[in-house]
Amino acid sequence: MLQPAVAHLATPSPRWPSILRPIAMTFRIRDEKPGDWHAREALLDTCFGPARLEKTCERLREGRLPAQGLSFVAADTAGLVATLRLWHIEAGDRAALLLGPLAVAPARRSAGIGAALVEHGLRRARRLSHRAVLLVGDAPYYERFGFAHDLAAGFTLPGPVDEDRFLARELVPGALAGARGRVVGAGEFMREPRVAPHHRAAA
Ligand SMILES: CC(C)(COP(=O)(O)OP(=O)(O)OC[C@H]1O[C@@H](n2cnc3c(N)ncnc32)[C@H](O)[C@@H]1OP(=O)(O)O)[C@@H](O)C(=O)NCCC(=O)NCCS
Repeated sequence: MLQPAVAHLATPSPRWPSILRPIAMTFRIRDEKPGDWHAREALLDTCFGPARLEKTCERLREGRLPAQGLSFVAADTAGLVATLRLWHIEAGDRAALLLGPLAVAPARRSAGIGAALVEHGLRRARRLSHRAVLLVGDAPYYERFGFAHDLAAGFTLPGPVDEDRFLARELVPGALAGARGRVVGAGEFMREPRVAPHHRAAA
């Protein structure tokens, strides 16, 4: 079920040229729709390059649908500017979510769009009764949302990963207490996997 979009006012970064700082650009966060597919794929290509489908996290997502109600985009008058999805996983004996990919168009970075998407996603996940979220990403960015390596340290991923970038956050205190073991994908499989033509070889 699609939820109403949430409008946000972008906060211009202090690093922006002073002439641009007074310009408050709005963006809205809404649930991803099927019609976003091409723009989202193009954005992910721009942000991660063609090797994005070789990442270890992709092994947890490939061929599967994202978790219900947990795919979001941020859009402005020019179109889609950011994307975030969360996915069902099993982390040892615990049901959890995998966060990612998160990507913001280069021209729209440092305006709070990434943070707004992550916070929106975590709020929705909590509302849908999910208990914990794992991700692979830069700790200096994700720590501000409560992600920490300690909570992920007992788990192993299906491929190589820089341990410092493997992070977790509990949505319910104690949700990951004492948990350890393999992380596996747990989402529903797509009926007909949709693969962009230029990604067929990599996928
Ligand atoms: C990481 C990313 C999503 C951040 O989006 P954003 O909208 O610019 O983020 P926010 O506006 O919420 O926060 C920006 C702040 O975070 C900091 N930041 C951005 N990426 C960071 C990183 N990898 N590590 C540490 N800090 C980071 C910025 O320096 C900025 O600080 P400033 O406000 O002092 O300039 C965006 O840079 C991006 O799409 N990068 C490429 C894809 C990627 O790495 N995705 C995350 C891994 S899944």
